[in-house]
This record gives sequence, structure tokens and C-alpha cells, in this order.
Amino acid sequence: ISKLAVLTSGGDAPGMNPCIRSVVRTAIYNNLNVVGIRRGYQGLIEDDMFDMHARSVSNILNLGGTILKTARCLPFRTDEGMEIAYQNLKKQGVDALVVIGGDGTFTGALRFSKKYPDIAVMGVPGTIDNDLYGSTYTLGFDTATNTVIEAIDKIRDTADAHDRLFFIEVMGRDSGAIALRAGISCGAEAILLPEKATAIDDLIKNLKTGENNKKSSSIVIVAEGDKNGGAYDIAQKVQKEVKFYDVKVTILGHLQRGGSPSAFDRILGSRLGYAAVNALIKGESQMMVGLEANHIKLTTLEEALNQHEFKLEEDLMEMAEILSI
Ligand code: F6P
Repeated sequence: ISKLAVLTSGGDAPGMNPCIRSVVRTAIYNNLNVVGIRRGYQGLIEDDMFDMHARSVSNILNLGGTILKTARCLPFRTDEGMEIAYQNLKKQGVDALVVIGGDGTFTGALRFSKKYPDIAVMGVPGTIDNDLYGSTYTLGFDTATNTVIEAIDKIRDTADAHDRLFFIEVMGRDSGAIALRAGISCGAEAILLPEKATAIDDLIKNLKTGENNKKSSSIVIVAEGDKNGGAYDIAQKVQKEVKFYDVKVTILGHLQRGGSPSAFDRILGSRLGYAAVNALIKGESQMMVGLEANHIKLTTLEEALNQHEFKLEEDLMEMAEILSI
């Protein structure tokens, strides 16, 4: 390969900037030319690309968001959109593409590289949702979980002061990864996860037992993908049966996506960016670089997207319940 392009796509995630820096500098170290694409696949279709140098990525390790900007791009799902994107890359002389993003990004990347195999494609898992098979952690998950923990600790202060029950909704789309880790870290009384159905009646029973056991406040974390509905719906149902607590709801929302990346995400971003470029140089394509047992591992994009392979840890779910009595 001789010229590499890099883009970030889908929801931004803290750690994307350290990864962009790593991709650019590893490529330059290996005498490759690099172009950055703005706003993900949207910029690819609109030919919004610019040359990047070692200094283009100075002082960005500590920045949340993505200096390349990002978008969720519908036209890239069409054959016409893909063809324009391909022609734009050819015009620039690009023969390798690093895409940093989540499942939507990889779905597009896989389709694109099957259609146009002369452009090598490497995926880097960048999403706060931690929902890709082939990497124990995705970029941004650690920072987002820490952000959630900081917020819930503050809510616990006021919940305890008023003897209240809080339902706190966290992001993750169909994954309960943030909810589970945050729940363990904050001692949530219950964690409602898409991966494990909780009947509202059981939740009410659990909260009543907590009250009998002299719990002064309760925190229930609701993953946004939980099948019982959103935190407001669940809170309403529970309030009817649980009179001893005043019930409140907090939806943490997009604050979970922002902020300076944690040490873990800075290092993960650096490692994955470095590995992505090295894998492309070795001739790999249609793969995702991930981290498993602290080692870099390549997984096919197809496998990475296979949600059936991705599982939330059973032992953590069980432990969370036992520790919250
Ligand atoms: O995939 C990351 C994520 O933050 C999900 O957790 C959430 O469901 C979604 O993106 C929100 O998307 P948007 O920012 O487009 O509203």
C-alpha cells in the first residue's frame, strides 16, 4: 500500500483522537501518505479529504470527540453512494482505508470492501457500547463508564439524603455493557439489562426486600435497550407499588459520549491504530483489530458483527446481584 485514508464514523467515542494520531504517525513512520476524511462516509462521498502530517495530530491525545468529525451517513448504504466514494478514493490514489467506529460503520466497510476489494479496509472498534465480537473492550467504553460512575455517585449522595429511589438510564443501544460495569462500580440495587430479562414484579419484590433490610436509598440502572421500556415507564410502574420511596428518574444521555479519554482509552486507541496500519502493511483486509487478553487480535469484520458471538459476562451479572443485597 502507498496511501492510506482514515475516518471516524457513527457515534463518537473518547479515544478516537488518540487512535487517529496513532494511525497517522504509524503510517508516516512507514513512509505512507495519509489523508483524513471528514465526517465519516459522508465526507468520503463529498470528497472532503485533506493531507495529514505528523503535526496534524499534535496535542489531541487528551481531546474527546473526533478531530475528523463523524456522521451517520445514509447515502453510503446505496450502491450509487458507494460508487462515488470509491471513485473519490481512486482519484486520491488511496489504496487502504482505516475506519474507526461501531457496528454500523463496519457493516458499511464490509459491503464496500466486498464490492471494491482493491481498497484494503481495516476496522478499529470505536464505540462506547462495547458490543463488538473480537475485542474485549472497544474505544470509549472505559471513559464512558467512568463518566457514568461519576454521575451516579453524585446521584447516590442526594438519593441517600432524601431516602429516594432513582432510575438512571444509561446508553449502550442493545448492549448492557455500560449498565453492568457502572452498576457493579456504584453498588446499584438492580441493573436492568437487554441481555437478561427482569420482570417488573421481581424488581418490586427486590426493592421491598431492600427496604426491609434497611436500605435508605436505591439506585436502579436501566440500560436503554432493556425490554421493559425506558426508565420513565418503569419508574411509573414501580412507584405504584413502592410507596416507601419517592421515585426519581435521570437519563444521562449524551454526556456519556464526551470528555477527555481515560488512560485506558488513550493507550487502547494508540495500540489499535498502530496495529491497524501494521496489519494493512502486511496485506490484511476486511478485518477488525481488537484487544483480547491484552494481545492484539485480528477478527474478520463478518465475525466482529456477529452479535450472537458477543455475550455479556454471566459471572459479572451473577456477582452484581449477590453484592447488592
Ligand atoms: O452507539 C453509541 C450510542 O451512543 C448509543 O449508545 C446510543 O444508543 C446512540 O449512539 C445514540 O445515537 P445518536 O447520538 O445518534 O443519538
